[in-house]
Amino acid sequence: MRRMSDLAPASVETESAAGPVCRVRDLRVAIRTPGEAVEIVCGVSFDLHAGRTTALVGESGSGKSMTGLAMLGLLPRGALRAGQILLAGRDLAALPESDMRQVRGDRVAVVFQEPMTALNPVLSIGQQVAEPLCIHRKTSRRAAEAAAIEMLGRVGLPDPRRVAGQYPHQLSGGMRQRVCIAMALICHPDVLIADEPTTALDATTQLQILDLLRQLQTDFGMAVLLITHDLSLVRQRADWIEIMYAGRLVEQGPAGEILRHAAHPYTAALLEVAPDLARPRGGRLPVIAGDVPQPYDRPPGCAFHPRCETGRDLPQCRSETPEIGPAGQGHRWACWHPRSRG
Ligand SMILES: Nc1ncnc2c1ncn2[C@@H]1O[C@H](COP(=O)(O)OP(=O)(O)OP(=O)(O)O)[C@@H](O)[C@H]1O
Ligand code: SF4
Ligand SMILES: [Mg+2]
Repeated sequence: MRRMSDLAPASVETESAAGPVCRVRDLRVAIRTPGEAVEIVCGVSFDLHAGRTTALVGESGSGKSMTGLAMLGLLPRGALRAGQILLAGRDLAALPESDMRQVRGDRVAVVFQEPMTALNPVLSIGQQVAEPLCIHRKTSRRAAEAAAIEMLGRVGLPDPRRVAGQYPHQLSGGMRQRVCIAMALICHPDVLIADEPTTALDATTQLQILDLLRQLQTDFGMAVLLITHDLSLVRQRADWIEIMYAGRLVEQGPAGEILRHAAHPYTAALLEVAPDLARPRGGRLPVIAGDVPQPYDRPPGCAFHPRCETGRDLPQCRSETPEIGPAGQGHRWACWHPRSRG
């Protein structure tokens, strides 16, 4: 394992006026253990575009949340980060925490899985949604609360004035998540990171929330990073897909292309086990045999090889790690023996 000080990006890129709104380059996260630092995000690069929903997909433990938290500067204590997060001419990874506090909730916002923990039980909904405007824009309390009511309407809450006077416990889970989205979007961020925003909700509400995010992303022209373990949810709602396995991106590209012609055996396996929302549910859900390896116990070569029917016994797969290639250049994969894409 290399030390974190060895993990500086190989080449430093600068932000251009055109192109992606956010570029993540060679992002690495390591956790200190008594013996050494163990990498849990291993050199991830991707672009986020205005008006585009990019889904970051992978099984539990693959490093999706750590990627999102690293972008927000919200990693757990003791975690180490390297790489670049380029947004509007600045490298967020190089900002001191005092500057990052200004960016978070203003230019980059987040919605988490469990809305109840994100909301303050003793503040009214209106006060909470107004808060980012007061902090980041120094808007007066009165004007911010008026804007909050308008935003509560934009996220589809009926009678927003009434909702603004209510408290979190008085709302359903779906309504609370709409409130969190309103709070995240009140400053019109460039990037919204939505980490499993629908996992705690029932199937119908899940789709409503995803539709809402898509609509708002179009209206506000922001880039959305949708973090999820569930490919069935992104089937019709993502524009671009990044597949993550054991801390690395293993396939990336336009959603339609990946969903129709997955090249990486892991993506194909995820698609096979993804429930089809259009079909009635019932019976046991299929799973991919085997487990995501723990960061301190990854197999050599391609980390997926012990679970891969193609590469399990191939010497190259067992000894050499395939690289995915540069970000943002169409459909790419990290695999020595990709599937035939017909
Ligand atoms: N605070 C922590 N300290 C040490 N290791 C951690 C910590 N948080 C997460 N990890 C490890 O980092 C790896 C990536 O975790 P992460 O939460 O990013 O996964 P994920 O893809 O978001 O999974 P899920 O779908 O379950 O949310 C996992 O192996 C996890 O055990
Ligand atoms: S590199 Fe080999 S083991 Fe890894 S996914 Fe491709 S075929 Fe399977
Ligand atoms: Mg997670």
